[in-house]
Amino acid sequence: MDTQVGSNIGIAKKYLDDGFAVGIPTETVYGLAANAFNEDAVSQIFKIKNRPAFDPLIVHVADLDAVGRITTHIPEKAKKLAEEFWPGPLTLILNKSSLISDLVTSGQSTVGLRIPRHVLTLDLLKALEYPLAAPSANPFKYVSPTSAQHVKNQLSGKLPYILDGGHCEVGLESTIVSFDVETPVILRLGGITENQIKAICPDVRVKIQHLPDSVTIPGQLLKHYAPNVPFIPLTQDSGSIKADDESIGYLFFNKPNEQILRNSKSNIKWLTQNANMNQAASNLYSMLRDFDGQNLSRVYFEWAPDEGLGKAINDRLERAQSK
Ligand code: TXA
Ligand code: MG
Repeated sequence: MDTQVGSNIGIAKKYLDDGFAVGIPTETVYGLAANAFNEDAVSQIFKIKNRPAFDPLIVHVADLDAVGRITTHIPEKAKKLAEEFWPGPLTLILNKSSLISDLVTSGQSTVGLRIPRHVLTLDLLKALEYPLAAPSANPFKYVSPTSAQHVKNQLSGKLPYILDGGHCEVGLESTIVSFDVETPVILRLGGITENQIKAICPDVRVKIQHLPDSVTIPGQLLKHYAPNVPFIPLTQDSGSIKADDESIGYLFFNKPNEQILRNSKSNIKWLTQNANMNQAASNLYSMLRDFDGQNLSRVYFEWAPDEGLGKAINDRLERAQSK
């Protein structure tokens, strides 16, 4: 199959209407989208990504009316979060209505939902008569894509069209809040911080699972988001001793001092120029991908400051390093 890249919503709609999976931009990462009401189309997502059937998909909608149709009930606190953060990088796990098949939710009675904040994809969703099931558009367990080119590099030939909406503004996946039980629970840190959620929903609990690969509880895998190159936390030793080895990469949070840069033959990148957390988040995945393309023996990384979006960045770094 020939894979076209373009920014034509009409073409994307045509392929989706015909039951194909299509790459779509969101403010977080690119998604691999298909008609959530068409099981054949949804099953293609699992096939293209090589994703196991026990890992449920997020459903993307244009507005709250659509949320009402595909859920049985929206708790007050969930409504408040939706009003505050949608469209935006927040996924709510709510009880699904019968319109959503077990294939989408991996047999669970809940469905993950969000209204994304990207003008092309919102316009596309408004033009469609169905919601879009869409996981991140990367092969299972690899780093999520933050540009149309990232999607093309890995999935070319497997889908007819990638809707190109530029580089993803947030660059980390959505924050997931589950209303499966009475007290809401944050299951994944992402583009909305824990404190932002707590400001609206003070009793929220945080339950980020780091379970081994053998565990097959939907939504709780550890080794997501991982590059292929060995990815190792930076210690005082690793930084100073091996800085003249060209086969080693370094990923710093901030721009390192000029002396390190001048004396080093290593491949050095930094997530942000001036401790800007949004910029760091937005750069993370493309830098991981760049390192992967450079035949390095290993990459040492520095943790982000453990606050705000830095917590989500550190969560991804931690997952990236667990081999
Ligand atoms: O930002 C995002 O959320 C991106 C963009 C494309 O929207 N999507 C995304 O999807 O990251 P995915 O499939 O790569 O990650 C969704 C996570 C998975 O870990 C999945 O197991 C979990 O959400 N999930 C989905 N539905 C769930 C449910 N009903 N209960 C628990 N976890 C769920
Ligand atoms: Mg993913």
